[in-house]
Amino acid sequence: MIPPSRSFSLHLAPMEGVVDFVLRDLITEMGGVDRCVTEFIRVTRHLHSPAILERYAPELKMGCRTRAGTPLFIQFLGGEATPMAENAAQAAELGALGIDLNFGCPAKTVNRHDGGASLLKTPERVFQITQAVRAAVPLATPVTVKIRLGFDDPSICFENVLAAENAGAQALTLHCRTKTDGYRPPAYWEWIPKIREKTKIPIVANGEIWTVEDFERCQEITGCTSYMLGRGAVARPTLFREIKNQAAEKISIQQSWSQIKMVLPRFFAASTDYRSGSFAQARTKQWLKALALKHDDAKPLFEELKVLTQPEQFRSRLEQLLS
Ligand SMILES: Cc1cc2nc3c(=O)[nH]c(=O)nc-3n(C[C@H](O)[C@H](O)[C@H](O)COP(=O)(O)O)c2cc1C
Repeated sequence: MIPPSRSFSLHLAPMEGVVDFVLRDLITEMGGVDRCVTEFIRVTRHLHSPAILERYAPELKMGCRTRAGTPLFIQFLGGEATPMAENAAQAAELGALGIDLNFGCPAKTVNRHDGGASLLKTPERVFQITQAVRAAVPLATPVTVKIRLGFDDPSICFENVLAAENAGAQALTLHCRTKTDGYRPPAYWEWIPKIREKTKIPIVANGEIWTVEDFERCQEITGCTSYMLGRGAVARPTLFREIKNQAAEKISIQQSWSQIKMVLPRFFAASTDYRSGSFAQARTKQWLKALALKHDDAKPLFEELKVLTQPEQFRSRLEQLLS
């Protein structure tokens, strides 16, 4: 049994359609986040223009950090080594602080077109893609990999972790479920110590950390020095800070809600600037729904606002309800 480490880092998970530039900005501002990752950028045959990469990651123009100073890695998803390598090189040239490769996406369309978790069936392809990307970007730019335990068989995780390690990945995030498990709890954290016995690559533990207590159990079981939080962090954005300051800081649900109330109008305004009023309206409804999982006060807001369809009316009602 590997003893839990006292010092650890916390990563905000990439979440396509949820954790965009605006939410990364607000969540990292709340503190405790050591790294974040863009939503996946799909790579087929083409080289994305700098403008496209900067649309996913406006932080590239800010030293590839959020305003709070948290470093951002750029995530790519695709099944062909050469275009993956070319896009990674382009991102590195634009100032990416790291490249992350997504081998975990369960989406049917992505898997049908040879990307995401379907690649876990063939560890040699994980190796080839990672190796090509590693060779294409400067050595100073870390390349990391994100996988699930497997497509349907979790025991293939050992081969995939070794493939990433041998290809030169600097770290590997393990979402502790197979593609077939989808997002159903539990996350099988107990695979991580078995993997750590056989490999040297640092593992970032991921899956089902919703509370400080979940984190402590995950830490005890895995002994990792890095952890990634996704849905739990969107539902309770102060969770990173609470985990970091375990003993020192207990944030009540009321305090957490007061902080969120202050940032919601900014979230709407920044999402409008980032894309449009309708986009901001959709994203604010989505975030309120996630927040309602942990904050009872968010429920009536979500119920009342979810039926509104005009962004301007939505904005003014949101402000009224929050005041
Ligand atoms: C809506 C949604 C979008 C996601 N998008 C991505 C993505 O773009 N790239 C990725 O590697 N993982 C993606 N994931 C997986 C998460 O990064 C994470 O591995 C998963 O949610 C498990 O962590 P959690 O239990 O803390 O949420 C997504 C998950 C969700 C729910």
